Amino acid sequence: MAGALKFPDNFLWGTATSPTQVEGHVANEWTDYVAPDGGHCRVACNHYHRYAEDVDWMAELGVNAYRLGIEWSRLQAAPFAPLNRQELERYVDLLDRLKAAGITPMVVLHHFSNPLWITSAGGWLNPATVPAFVDYVTKLVTALKERVGLWNTFNEPDTYASLTYLLGGFPPFRKWRLLSYRKTIQHMAEAHVRVGEVIRRAGHGGRTPEIGIAKNWTFFGPFERHALWDHLLAAISHHAFNGYVLDAFLGGPRRAASTFLGVNYYGLARFKNFEPMVPAGGACRKRLARLGVVCDDMFERHPGGLGIILKNFHRRYGLPLYITEHGAASSDEDFRIRDLTEHLHELHGAVKGGVDVRGFFYWSLLDNFEWQFGYSKKFGLLAVDFTDEKLPRKMTRVGEFYRGICRAGAAVAPQKSSVAIR
Ligand code: NOJ
Repeated sequence: MAGALKFPDNFLWGTATSPTQVEGHVANEWTDYVAPDGGHCRVACNHYHRYAEDVDWMAELGVNAYRLGIEWSRLQAAPFAPLNRQELERYVDLLDRLKAAGITPMVVLHHFSNPLWITSAGGWLNPATVPAFVDYVTKLVTALKERVGLWNTFNEPDTYASLTYLLGGFPPFRKWRLLSYRKTIQHMAEAHVRVGEVIRRAGHGGRTPEIGIAKNWTFFGPFERHALWDHLLAAISHHAFNGYVLDAFLGGPRRAASTFLGVNYYGLARFKNFEPMVPAGGACRKRLARLGVVCDDMFERHPGGLGIILKNFHRRYGLPLYITEHGAASSDEDFRIRDLTEHLHELHGAVKGGVDVRGFFYWSLLDNFEWQFGYSKKFGLLAVDFTDEKLPRKMTRVGEFYRGICRAGAAVAPQKSSVAIR
């Protein structure tokens, strides 16, 4: 491959999804939610009935890893109840199919959803959720320890807690409840440590399992240099969403609970007179374009930031890293290909510079239910036609491009002219 940026031979080239976003037929706090575009998660991509076909698609894409969630609400009907055998068998079958296709699973234990009996008892504000989660994970890990060696306990605890209790984006849509935000983070961090012990004790067929969270990393900054108030807001956001959360999960003796750190990286949010200049924060795309903000349908792009944060995490924690998510939401496929190229270039630079990064999971395998935004954000390597009730999947050009990377174990150097992304 011309201009090839070779990665280590055992590097994981993967893709990712989460149960509420793709499976359909879930009964959790998202089931009754209807997004402004009319979208809901009740059928989603129907991955629940179509996972076998989706594994074939993954084989076609040439990925050697898949980051998938297991949905707690399917498996336990009440606190401390035995796991539902039939639902467990379905996940076992999925894991066996992945193995047959040579695809390593990374299992996410909590990805923005809870059983309704947890929600009605106060969710993660209730300290009783911690032992209930530990019980669930103990049973799950006992059942799956031979098949799974990579465990991602919590996905983006910062996003979950902030959208639930600060920004009103996730059920129960509360705003400005700082104490609830902090309590949620603390309970999740405690649960991470406790389930980490459970996973370690269970082992993985004679090998040591890997345990870590996926931390969303957003850079915050002011849009204009002189705007001291926006500097301040950026500093507060950085502390609340990055510093505080990392400290809760990885500070002091808690660092020993993790064997890796997952990084979900999408980019940058700059403030202009307290307003976040990103589509995910409600800013108008046309206005952003006029202001020269290069973004996908969610965040401002900042590929250079990926190298910075990887080096920083490597120095600070000395843990192996995975890019547990990166992708771009756009119907402009050239933009997404360029975006991927720029980010993999940064990733390659970090690996070459000695940062121990072990894998990259493209978000996402399929176009899917993007939480409060419904189906309007197109992240898929495979496009899904949601207007057709058969929900046909179709390879995108981004998917084809990523297939080339997975097959070669190498990315391509960005062309000099493709500097549209800062
Ligand atoms: C992070 C979340 O883990 C995932 O659920 C979401 O769809 C992507 N970011 C894109 O926003």
